[in-house]
Amino acid sequence: MQRESIPLADPGAQMRLYEEPVRAAFDRVLRSGRYILDNEVQAFEREWAAYLCVPHCIGVGNGTDALALALQAVGVQAGHEVITVSHTAVATVAAIEQIGAVPVFADIDPRARCMNPAHLPGLISENTRAIVPVHIYGQPAPMGKIMAVAKEHGLKVVEDCAQAHGATVDGQHVGAFGDAAAFSFYPTKNLGALGDAGAVVTNDPTLADSLRMLREYGWRERYVSLMPGRNSRLDELQAAILRVKLPYLDSNNVRRRLIAAAFTQALRNTTLVAPAQIEGTEHAMHLYVVEATDRPAFERFLNGAGITTGRHYPLAVHQQPAYAGRIRGSQALPITEALYQRLVTLPCYPELREEDVAHISETLIRWSSRSRAKQRRVTSPRAERVIR
Ligand SMILES: Cc1ncc(COP(=O)(O)O)c(C=O)c1O
Repeated sequence: MQRESIPLADPGAQMRLYEEPVRAAFDRVLRSGRYILDNEVQAFEREWAAYLCVPHCIGVGNGTDALALALQAVGVQAGHEVITVSHTAVATVAAIEQIGAVPVFADIDPRARCMNPAHLPGLISENTRAIVPVHIYGQPAPMGKIMAVAKEHGLKVVEDCAQAHGATVDGQHVGAFGDAAAFSFYPTKNLGALGDAGAVVTNDPTLADSLRMLREYGWRERYVSLMPGRNSRLDELQAAILRVKLPYLDSNNVRRRLIAAAFTQALRNTTLVAPAQIEGTEHAMHLYVVEATDRPAFERFLNGAGITTGRHYPLAVHQQPAYAGRIRGSQALPITEALYQRLVTLPCYPELREEDVAHISETLIRWSSRSRAKQRRVTSPRAERVIR
């Protein structure tokens, strides 16, 4: 029987697992008659802050707004420069430009695939106000080094944690290192809602106070705007659903890491590059991304075996038509550009069935023995000549 293709993500499968408590949460909100910024949002803000061990969480409409509001709250204004990476979702850069600030790109480290702090000093100008490291794919960026550069130069740090719920550095959750941190709860994230949702977390009570105002027209008290703000509120329904799923985040992350370990094991002794294990960090395995030199053939092989693959992302931000040729730092991103020739995303999420994990692992092994045989055919005539 023809097997169905294994999807790259399956948020529906996850929701089916939680259907009963999600319906109960839905009914509770429905009956409450209060749908915006009420008990569920406050409870989720408390629970998410407690999970991360930070004192303040502010629920907002989505992860892009969370970044933009966090940057505004730390004092970034129109015309200020913000250093980030081009190896990220476009949302990171869109958030910087949303508040009129100017993105600048730093290259990445080839192992972690995150911002390389060694490049930061050369990019800092008199207009620089903040750094946005991205914990891409769930791999924490080197926060100790980034915070040290920021401190030396008087810059603020806003962590982009949209892909890294539950990832840690030296046992501490990402989101607790910067002046503020932004989370997205887009449905496919490690902690996902049933629509758009986001949050900012911070250790600083003054920033938290500003963020509560900024997300709702600058109000501390209803209808009195103390500063210009916007509407980016987390709604009660999404907050209630996130509260249902939060207790399972850690066990789901463990499952993601087990699946990733099986794939990495299958990739041993191959030319494919698996995600690196970076000392002192725990990966959230939001996305399992390998590097393949023969990418189109590798993708065809997997797709032919009924495994959906992706590219996160098809283009780095500085290669996207909307951003090409206009962002400082774009000319010096050799590591980012090399990665974008090779990256391939494999399905890796907690609902993946054991037989799917086995099938993907076996297919990776078959690919590597096939490419080894191909390599032998190519190299053997030359080897023979050398022997003669
Ligand atoms: C790295 C990164 N930053 C920011 C965002 C923005 O989140 P949202 O889609 O909730 O606006 C995303 C989500 O796709 C992301 O992956």
